[in-house]
Amino acid sequence: MPHLTPSDRIGTTVGGRYEIRRLLGEGGFSAVFESVHNITGRSVALKLLHPHLVTTEQITERFLLEARAMARIRHDGIVQVLDAGKDPDGTVYIALELLEGEALESTLQRVRTITWSEAASIGVDVLAALAEAHRNKIVHRDIKPGNIFVTRKNSGEAQAKLLDFGIAHVAQAKGRFTQQGVILGTPEYMSPEQARAGAVGPEADLWSVGVVLFECVTGSTPFVSENTTEILLRVQTERAPELSSVVPSVPSAISAVVRRALERDVSERFHTADEMREALQRQSVDIILLDLVLPGGEDGLMLAREVRARSDTPIIMLTGRDDVVDRIVGLEVGADDYIAKPFHLREVLARLRTVLRRRQPAAPARAEPDDAIHFDGWRLDLARRQLVTAEGTEIVLTTGEFDMLAALARAPGRVLSRDVLMDLTHGRSLEAFDRTIDAQIARLRKKIEPDPSRPTLIKSVRGVGYVFTGKP
Ligand SMILES: Nc1ncnc2c1ncn2[C@@H]1O[C@H](COP(=O)(O)OP(=O)(O)O)[C@@H](O)[C@H]1O
Ligand SMILES: [Mg+2]
Repeated sequence: MPHLTPSDRIGTTVGGRYEIRRLLGEGGFSAVFESVHNITGRSVALKLLHPHLVTTEQITERFLLEARAMARIRHDGIVQVLDAGKDPDGTVYIALELLEGEALESTLQRVRTITWSEAASIGVDVLAALAEAHRNKIVHRDIKPGNIFVTRKNSGEAQAKLLDFGIAHVAQAKGRFTQQGVILGTPEYMSPEQARAGAVGPEADLWSVGVVLFECVTGSTPFVSENTTEILLRVQTERAPELSSVVPSVPSAISAVVRRALERDVSERFHTADEMREALQRQSVDIILLDLVLPGGEDGLMLAREVRARSDTPIIMLTGRDDVVDRIVGLEVGADDYIAKPFHLREVLARLRTVLRRRQPAAPARAEPDDAIHFDGWRLDLARRQLVTAEGTEIVLTTGEFDMLAALARAPGRVLSRDVLMDLTHGRSLEAFDRTIDAQIARLRKKIEPDPSRPTLIKSVRGVGYVFTGKP
């Protein structure tokens, strides 16, 4: 069989019926193309095993076993298999439903981190899909962002789907394809038992979901090294850092779910995907209706500010006090809407719907090639959320620091008050224990100013706020 590269495939026909149009993505085992069925005209995703792997019967068989394993399951969270086959020239293919959206891996490359509530919602979908796979005695074994695809339901809600059961372990075929001693998987996401090349059960997938959640929120996997052997060693001997110690705004309950998924001892981990999904789901709330006057004299405004610092869950405030100052402060601390008593229940419902509709995450944005701000030779890439110095080194910023810098740099020379900055950064990323704008600016200066005590990029304007003074 000729060693075709993915671009050689464009324009060819596979299986006598799939016309290959363009490359959608590539992994270690295969390349996936958008293709059109030459009779029905239906677009599909055609997955072709890399030609250099077709050489062994074992890999070809494993690839086709993937089709069989996936076809057994029908679930919203698992990409659907439509067809599979082998051509006389050796081409091995699987036709899958064509998904619209983006692999989580590409999203993370683009934005580095997502909020913990977005991560939790992806986790819930993935765990529901895994529960179904595990019920069918299939362990995925390669859960990672490249194998999770985020698409949209008709309602506009995000839906994560599992791809790539390429090294799935089907219990019946025990030992046949995944012999002991053969390590398959991706080191950063591998459970200790997988890293040891020992027996692997459903709990291995739960570990990997823990790693994915950790990465979504912090921007990196818990065990990192240049060296694969060292990653595998660290996975087996070290405890993963506590999520909420890396990102303090993550609620401790979410952090605890990730910690339990990353227990090295299998018996300490969640026992089933459903158990982990329920633990994660309990933490997600769709919307908060908050009365400004709380029992026990607690302050609703304080509570709203606190919620906003930790998450982006929508908040609607209810109050008996129809005071314009309350209303402004309420919106300033991060409420999405404000309803004064007495109110009609129908109005409350209509507003709930409006806020929820507005909060639907936008479809994955296409990164504009020049969506960047340049100053003093530095580049602030708004699409990738990266800050790169004149020397080309990247400065790692937290979500909050990045938003702050972007807000200031978008309005060079203009003095922005603390309130405006709070609004522009949505107050949502301000760390739980250190909520002031000033503290955030101080941290940012430490990272970007050559001499933070004599700032040249972000200057203070006494009694007013801050101004960005970088030169374009
Ligand atoms: N059904 C699909 N629809 C759209 N894109 C897909 C589909 N399946 C896979 N892809 C893209 O191709 C990439 C590789 O697919 P995957 O099944 O993970 O192959 P591999 O076994 O080589 O890792 C994915 O990360 C995704 O970007
Ligand atoms: Mg893959």
